[in-house]
Amino acid sequence: MTSISKGEIIEALSLEGEEQETLHDEACNLRDETVSNNLYFRGLIETSNICVNDCLYCGIRTSNKKIKHFELTSEEIMHCVDLAAERSLSAVVLQSGERRGPRYADDMAGVVSHIKKAHPAVSMTLSFGELSRDQYQKLYEAGAERYLLRIETSDEKHYRRLHPEEMSFKNRLQCLENLREIGYQIGSGVMINSPFQTLENLADDILFLKNLDIDMCGMGPYIPHEESPLAHLPYAPDKALSLGLNMIALLRTAMPDINIAATTALETLSLHGKELGLLAGANVIMPQFSPPEKRGDYMLYDNKPVAFENYDDLINKLVEAGISCGMTPSLKDPGHSLHFLKRKNYDNTH
Ligand code: 5AD
Repeated sequence: MTSISKGEIIEALSLEGEEQETLHDEACNLRDETVSNNLYFRGLIETSNICVNDCLYCGIRTSNKKIKHFELTSEEIMHCVDLAAERSLSAVVLQSGERRGPRYADDMAGVVSHIKKAHPAVSMTLSFGELSRDQYQKLYEAGAERYLLRIETSDEKHYRRLHPEEMSFKNRLQCLENLREIGYQIGSGVMINSPFQTLENLADDILFLKNLDIDMCGMGPYIPHEESPLAHLPYAPDKALSLGLNMIALLRTAMPDINIAATTALETLSLHGKELGLLAGANVIMPQFSPPEKRGDYMLYDNKPVAFENYDDLINKLVEAGISCGMTPSLKDPGHSLHFLKRKNYDNTH
């Protein structure tokens, strides 16, 4: 098992230039030796921007009255999955704002089982926020295998500064525990370079994710949203990008056998954000399959990419990008987390 100390992480987080390149190269070597150099694809489908939460950093927070709310129908979601499956993708992520109504999870469980019937080979990751254990169970039984719930920060005091009082750090942890017990591949992650965050917080985040024993990680740099209460704080995009990439490399070092995504926020900070993420040790990318006309309404942060590109061109470009980063694009492989397969004692050669 790889072990890296908090002090080493803190020091490595600020690396730039040649030393940073070495850190990233070593993370890629570790990735290639451990989970292979396969690049996995997940079609990202944003199913609704309605959210009951009021996170201080987020563009779809409930207090933002400027957003035009949408909720895709079951047929619309299925259409997005069809488009991804037609391009040979074998994994999708359904993501939405958080809802408390008792019907929401039931409705989504209906959608999940519908998708599973139509596309048995497609693995589904859900990212619907904090739900009850029963709701998670229902969604799992309907056919979802993976769940992504970011902890956002592992420091409860820091969490309090980014979230309204009614949100609970402990409940979020409980949710992750429930998801794990039910049998999901669990994913979590943090926002990097978020307001009030220190390098020590980020080092603790890495150790926290390792201790949580996650199977997959989606984490990305914080980017201000103009309608959020934190938008007025000073912001350094270059630092955000550099820390975002170093966090990927350091998490890969700490947890060599998990899946790590090169997230969309990297792309907002750099034209080649996705490639930089892969070159820092990520092994998953999540091309957008949300309906083009709805993308502008799912603005978590300013300048989130919304441009629509013909799906075949998009996938071809990403395949080429993967190859240019020394990876083997593996569209048809659902890309289960090796960490998960090991912990489930599966024989991963099958
Ligand atoms: N910058 C970057 N990421 C954000 N998210 C929400 N708001 C922002 C922002 N301003 C991320 C959170 C959440 C995910 C859906 O989007 O980490 O979990």
